[in-house]
Amino acid sequence: MGITSIKKALIAAGLACAASGAFAAGMASPSMLAGTCAACHGPGGNSDGPAIPGIAGVTKNYFVAAMLSYKYGDDEDAIEKAVAASGGALDPDEFEALPRGKGTIMSRIAKGYEDAEIIAMADQFANSPFNRNAQPTKQALVNKGSSLHEDNCEKCHEDGGRTSVDDVGILAGQWMPYLSNTLADFKDGTRKMPKKMASKMKDLNAADLEALVHYYGSQK
Ligand code: HEC
Ligand code: HEC
Repeated sequence: MGITSIKKALIAAGLACAASGAFAAGMASPSMLAGTCAACHGPGGNSDGPAIPGIAGVTKNYFVAAMLSYKYGDDEDAIEKAVAASGGALDPDEFEALPRGKGTIMSRIAKGYEDAEIIAMADQFANSPFNRNAQPTKQALVNKGSSLHEDNCEKCHEDGGRTSVDDVGILAGQWMPYLSNTLADFKDGTRKMPKKMASKMKDLNAADLEALVHYYGSQK
């Protein structure tokens, strides 16, 4: 490519940004960035399931922590740098990114985005309401799951797992196959969890986890 065609390409890129209401110099707008996620996560982050989670309605910290752990794995230094460079968008005292294990499709996808783009996208999803998915559940398991949740999970996953307050994932109405896979990943250590959550999970067996999944799946 000659100098002139590079110039032309830059001008064309600049025009494209201007036309879309450029977010920051050289960056696509947050809604354009987030648009490419809709193929899997659905419009506004409400997926058709069953193994692809809904990602609407989660806090900025939760969203960015997930994306940075997919992008950087357990490279804590890289994640610290991203937080420090966020210009206050992320508060180091409130922000924690736990490793999510290797081999998911998301680690490849997240590597395609700049840290600033990931942070810019977060509000798109945070401001989009989470649709609870109606799913078939067994009442006996729902009842058992309800009391297990109350005893072990409600302290952090408040309101029956309906909210992302305190930077937790939304559980109520999330796709059940995704929840089952995720709980299995926590249980076998593929995905790391907070120490206090681990101490609650330790005594739960596979049947308990299944009951919890039915409880969350039943939430309207
Ligand atoms: C090819 C399908 C696909 C695309 C495209 C995709 N994702 Fe994902 N995403 C998944 C799957 C599947 C998971 C579940 C974890 C896993 O298996 O990797 C996931 C998990 C996530 C999670 C974690 C949810 C949670 O609560 O833990 C976030 C956040 C996320 N994706 C954000 C995005 C964003 C942002 C984009 C666009 C830049 C995107 N994804 C594009 C398939 C996709
Ligand atoms: C001490 C607080 C705490 C307790 C207790 C706790 N959790 Fe969590 N949970 C968290 C945090 C924080 C995250 C987010 C972790 C991350 O992003 O890596 C989380 C994430 C999750 C996720 C992943 C959500 C997603 O969309 O991928 C599931 C599922 C989950 N917890 C289930 C449970 C269950 C079931 C219990 C009870 C047995 C429980 N948690 C108890 C704090 C807690």
